[in-house]
Amino acid sequence: MTVPHNSAPDAPNDIANDSPLGGDLVSRGATDADVRVDFLHRVRFTRDVFDPSNSTLADVLDPTGRGPGTSRLLVAIDDGLCAAWPHLEAAVNAYAAAHADRMPVPATTMVVPGGEACKNDMATVDRVVEAVDRHRICRRSYILAIGGGAMLDAVGFASTIAHRGVRLVRIPTTTLAQDDAAMGVKNGVNRFGKKNFVGAFAPPWAVVNDERFLETLSDADFRNGFSEAVKIALLRDPALFARLERDAERVCARDLAAAMPIVRRSAELHLRHITRGGDPFETREARPLDYGHWSAHKLESMTRFALSHGAAVGIGVALDTLYAALEGRLSRVDADRTIDVQRRLGITMWHPALDDVDALVRGLEEFREHLGGRLTITLLRGIGQSDDVHTMDASTLRAAVAELRRVAAG
Ligand SMILES: NC(=O)c1ccc[n+]([C@@H]2O[C@H](COP(=O)([O-])OP(=O)(O)OC[C@H]3O[C@@H](n4cnc5c(N)ncnc54)[C@H](O)[C@@H]3O)[C@@H](O)[C@H]2O)c1
Ligand SMILES: [Zn+2]
Repeated sequence: MTVPHNSAPDAPNDIANDSPLGGDLVSRGATDADVRVDFLHRVRFTRDVFDPSNSTLADVLDPTGRGPGTSRLLVAIDDGLCAAWPHLEAAVNAYAAAHADRMPVPATTMVVPGGEACKNDMATVDRVVEAVDRHRICRRSYILAIGGGAMLDAVGFASTIAHRGVRLVRIPTTTLAQDDAAMGVKNGVNRFGKKNFVGAFAPPWAVVNDERFLETLSDADFRNGFSEAVKIALLRDPALFARLERDAERVCARDLAAAMPIVRRSAELHLRHITRGGDPFETREARPLDYGHWSAHKLESMTRFALSHGAAVGIGVALDTLYAALEGRLSRVDADRTIDVQRRLGITMWHPALDDVDALVRGLEEFREHLGGRLTITLLRGIGQSDDVHTMDASTLRAAVAELRRVAAG
């Protein structure tokens, strides 16, 4: 039997002894033994998560109904979110008090910088780790991180290293974090000017998405967050792509009735890749969901992270789509549909940093180094169909950048 790792088994492991004199390691001095660890990835969508009548959060914090016991709670809130929701800390406290039979009341609430800045040094990670110590947060306690994908990555990384892993509950509050980032099993921060250079793989204890938070996002962050939905639709789901085409104007106008089914489907596809794709910790060369990401990550670092991840992915998706069309592997019709839907969604597709194509091309090697092994880039063959390639041609890339400059301006 396998026990969900993060469900904290109480029974000691049943360690079978091969023979009274031991197993292979004793007799032959060598053994190759599988290590398998199962996790449970709990994802919920709800509205008004901190309304005391909403039990979603209490339910995921107390799945067995035994109550909080000795567990404690550390809350970290994105400062950009705090500015838009000034009563949020009080709402979290009131919610915890109303559900005190199910969950701990917060031992402390920290406001941490939102946006990529919190990933550009270790300050946020260090602060959270120190707070874990100061407020006696144990491995069966919870860190509740509420905010955008950047702070979820930084606070999440702190949660993976403090005590070698404290339970992390993410409440993502941006379109990108809800349709992609919060589903991920990756945490990390940037170092040496490189994206996600330091980090760890660790599934969260739970992810609770609340669409209400999306109401206060900036237009740019709201719209660019859909670049990850376009990406996964292109890779995996022509029906989602068709829906994006159908509802693009409504999504761009922030109509949540049109936007949320897309956010949910994108989240579901990202989650499915992690839970059923067979490689959650990315040990293989290919990183199939990173369509458009080799240039996105490079553009983020070239702009010293002034370009947001969502915008950079919008550019990266457009660039690799035009590249594939120039190579003749993707039809013009499908390339045009992709550029058109991104334009109608209001997704960014250009940044002046693209002028430095030589620097951009160096991003290919950095991407290879980060993933390890051979360079492996996913390129489209059609909408919903992709292939892995192991080289990209610099002059075709240059032509794709020139074409992108034209289409983004038009
Ligand atoms: N771990 C993963 O698997 C994974 C996957 C994809 C992306 N990411 C990471 O996610 C990050 C991008 O996340 P993002 O797009 O959520 O942007 P973000 O976290 O940078 O947030 C954007 C801005 O919105 C503010 N904000 C957040 N929620 C708000 C709200 N509801 N109302 C008003 N303001 C709000 C933040 O303070 C910030 O200024 C990148 O660092 C990217 O690398 C991680
Ligand atoms: Zn991404």
